[in-house]
Amino acid sequence: MLKVGIFGVGHLGKFHINNWQKIKGAKLVGFYDPDDTAAAEVSKQYGLKRFDNQDELVAACDAVDIIAPTTFHFDLCEKAIRNSRHVFVEKPLADTMEEAHKIVKLAKEAGIKVQVGHVERFNPAYLALSGYQLAPMFIEVHRLSQFNPRGTEVSVILDLMIHDIDIVLSIVKSGVKHISASGVAVMTDTPDIANVRIEFNNGCVANLTSSRISMKKMRKMRLFQKDAYIGIDFLEKKTEIIKLKEDSDRDAFTFDIETPSGKKEIAIANPPVPDANAILLELEAFVKAVTGNNPTPVSEVDGLMAMDVAHQILQKIQSANYVVK
Ligand SMILES: NC(=O)c1ccc[n+]([C@@H]2O[C@H](COP(=O)([O-])OP(=O)(O)OC[C@H]3O[C@@H](n4cnc5c(N)ncnc54)[C@H](O)[C@@H]3O)[C@@H](O)[C@H]2O)c1
Repeated sequence: MLKVGIFGVGHLGKFHINNWQKIKGAKLVGFYDPDDTAAAEVSKQYGLKRFDNQDELVAACDAVDIIAPTTFHFDLCEKAIRNSRHVFVEKPLADTMEEAHKIVKLAKEAGIKVQVGHVERFNPAYLALSGYQLAPMFIEVHRLSQFNPRGTEVSVILDLMIHDIDIVLSIVKSGVKHISASGVAVMTDTPDIANVRIEFNNGCVANLTSSRISMKKMRKMRLFQKDAYIGIDFLEKKTEIIKLKEDSDRDAFTFDIETPSGKKEIAIANPPVPDANAILLELEAFVKAVTGNNPTPVSEVDGLMAMDVAHQILQKIQSANYVVK
């Protein structure tokens, strides 16, 4: 049984606690949170032991789950790793690139497992595509949300766009050649809305828009590749593939179009989207990686790579004279 200690029981922390309680191979030993009100609420609601001392909680568990604000990720990761505790840490991995590099180094030296909470990797709409060959040459992404002061200690790039950066990097397995970016700080002193173009060495271009000051929510990714258009709706949990029909497309809706080279049969398919809870899946995957001594599905290196691209984007925006963090 993997003994888990929780650091941070705010908005997301409570979702984690709920899901940890469903995982058979894990047991929560308690939590640490400096906020007395949040701590009292969680102790009462979940009957979970509150630790007043971070070291005592680290000593009592085999693995930590860090859901504290990003500025505390490094200190908590360092403490856990130096005590040989496995780490699940929310995205972004750390506040600065220097901290992220240190976490990667410490984890390697200690031989412990780190997983970063890039939860969209476990979104059912994305999982619906597992087994489908993704080789996009053009990607269009929109992640829009209404304003919420939570998370604004970092820019929209590190708060929201980093989800899409991680997904794009996990699909396009090629180096980044060039980044152009523009961002505007409207409600906070860091960019609240941004548009970014990432060119990859293999020719793929990803165009990402993120906003935390929109009137309505949207989380869509559209992939265009030689044989298909693939739409992923992370919010509505829907996936669509439109492509030239093949013999295997038996369940797809089909129609014909005239092209210069003759009539082509087009197939529209909605691959089955699993009825799954992404947070539960990511935590279960972490437990499986730790207990089976396998690599975590979203490693500290993945977290570092997403941060690296995010920070390059921030530098581009900064060079256009915006105050960024
Ligand atoms: N994966 C996702 O989709 C997603 C979504 C939301 C938030 N997050 C990440 O989760 C983290 C927390 O976000 P949130 O929305 O729950 O924030 P929150 O402000 O609601 O909660 C954070 C909690 O951490 C506590 N805290 C502060 N310092 C601490 C410390 N040193 N040790 C332990 N706890 C401490 C606070 O008192 C608070 O209760 C952030 O890193 C954020 O980026 C990820």
